[in-house]
Amino acid sequence: MVSVRKLNKKDAQNLALIANNKNISDNLRDVFPHPYTLKDAEWFIDFNNKESLDHRWAIKYHGEFSGIIGLHVKDDVYAQNLELGYWLGEQYWGKSIMTQAIDLVLNIGFSEIGCHRIYASVFSFNQASCRVLEKCGFKNEGISEEAIFKNGSFYDEIRFSMLRQSFFNKKS
Ligand SMILES: CC(C)(COP(=O)(O)OP(=O)(O)OC[C@H]1O[C@@H](n2cnc3c(N)ncnc32)[C@H](O)[C@@H]1OP(=O)(O)O)[C@@H](O)C(=O)NCCC(=O)NCCS
Repeated sequence: MVSVRKLNKKDAQNLALIANNKNISDNLRDVFPHPYTLKDAEWFIDFNNKESLDHRWAIKYHGEFSGIIGLHVKDDVYAQNLELGYWLGEQYWGKSIMTQAIDLVLNIGFSEIGCHRIYASVFSFNQASCRVLEKCGFKNEGISEEAIFKNGSFYDEIRFSMLRQSFFNKKS
């Protein structure tokens, strides 16, 4: 019932509808706008399909567009890493959707793209996101003190990671 697929132009309306929510943007980097307009959604899909090197997918839950998950490409000495990012429309929270979507994308990252390490950075107040990463088998690597400046305040950042070998060990 949870699947991922590439974004397409027809997703713009649904994307704008569920992304326009401060409870989502408060947990994400400032590049995710609030308010989130149809123009923002159209720009994002176009940029993603034509220019971005990152890997991004629409999350489908029982056929409904419910959010976005991505693996962001790193360069230089970090080129064997991918950074995981994700969000769901608020009406889809608490149904184990993200735990399943992350598992699908870890498989793509390690098996198809072939990276060595996947990591995620979470604002310290985001307990739901920490829990999802723990459920998916990520290792809590520690805290970067007051690394985040969001909505006028400093917050700690918690870094989670998974190595390719641990992913395959977990599966076998
Ligand atoms: C974080 C987010 C992706 C979680 O997705 P989800 O599909 O609701 O997550 P799941 O249902 O798979 O798992 C949530 C877990 O967190 C737990 N949880 C939820 N709120 C919690 C809280 N305030 N404190 C502690 N645990 C919490 C749930 O109980 C569940 O754990 P359990 O299965 O052991 O009971 C979703 O809430 C979201 O999109 N939030 C806004 C954007 C965001 O935060 N993105 C991530 C940025 S790092």
